[in-house]
Amino acid sequence: MGKLLLAPMEGLADFVLRDVLTRVGGYDGAVTEFVRVSGNLLPPRTFQRICPELANHSRTSAGTPVAVQLLGSDPQCLADNAAQLCALNPAGVDLNFGCPAPTVNLHGGGAMLLADPERLFRIAEAVRQSVPAHIPFTAKMRLGVDDKARALDCALALESGGVVALVVHARTRAEGYKPPAHWEWVARIQDVVQLPVTANGEVWTPDDYVRCRAVSGCEDVMIGRGAVADPFLARRIRMLVGGDEPGLDRAADWLELLPSIADFWRLIQVKVAAHHAPGRLKLWLNSLRLTFVEAEALYMAVRPLRSSEEITRVLALHGVPVLRAAA
Ligand SMILES: Cc1cc2nc3c(=O)[nH]c(=O)nc-3n(C[C@H](O)[C@H](O)[C@H](O)COP(=O)(O)O)c2cc1C
Repeated sequence: MGKLLLAPMEGLADFVLRDVLTRVGGYDGAVTEFVRVSGNLLPPRTFQRICPELANHSRTSAGTPVAVQLLGSDPQCLADNAAQLCALNPAGVDLNFGCPAPTVNLHGGGAMLLADPERLFRIAEAVRQSVPAHIPFTAKMRLGVDDKARALDCALALESGGVVALVVHARTRAEGYKPPAHWEWVARIQDVVQLPVTANGEVWTPDDYVRCRAVSGCEDVMIGRGAVADPFLARRIRMLVGGDEPGLDRAADWLELLPSIADFWRLIQVKVAAHHAPGRLKLWLNSLRLTFVEAEALYMAVRPLRSSEEITRVLALHGVPVLRAAA
């Protein structure tokens, strides 16, 4: 089967969730949330903070390679920062042309660049000079800003600029995260470029994966929110492709997931400021509610709580094998 990639998700899938999800398994690679590049040469510690995996040969603890994503609009500044990043030997360098956030777009970054394929070309061409051939240099794009009229031009511009693979989130900026994802447009892009293209958007189930591949014609698929809502999704997709019926014993899955929730809670308390940790757990549990009835009960119990101690106690009551946070 083609590759299954875990999508970059700023504020949701940082290295803690990447670690947990790739240990549950099924992913061939992951991409970090974006590192914003605006004017300065970032110190190594900025890349290391967003991608602690750099200290582990750019792999999660399960061994899954992690590429680092850059977001910016100035070709030379992006190229200089890519050179700085490449000194840390990332598993890949990815460029973001999809972020719809107003603050990012106001500065001409993210999805707004899709209005200007010539600029995309200049950015890719400049960054290409900084990324040695042994490090995969890729880009992730949406289909456009308000409409899809320039989608093919954007993909061709990135190819001419020297990226070696492209992920296409099959929606415009204006379409936000609203279904459907236009997988048929990924097929149109695939038809005009020579590069491997990865399809992305609205894969929540193994059946979605099969349809996404059929419609987009892509071998490789990247999964975002579906991976957070169902940590077993990649494994279930592999079972389906391998000819096994992906079992739907959600109660058994939930029991298997409990140690991962404990790991997440332990690691997130080490990583973020104490007052942010509860919010991060609630965010993940909120996604898990889409898949597990047990997550609904746990989420409702945790939601009103603000202190980590109380949350640890409630997690334990719900069968999560929590340990005390490391000092
Ligand atoms: C909370 C959140 C944060 C995201 N952050 C990024 C990001 O940093 N870089 C990026 O390229 N895409 C980002 N995305 C977009 C996802 O990578 C992906 O393209 C999108 O969610 C569609 O895939 P899905 O339908 O499987 O979720 C983000 C999406 C979400 C929901």
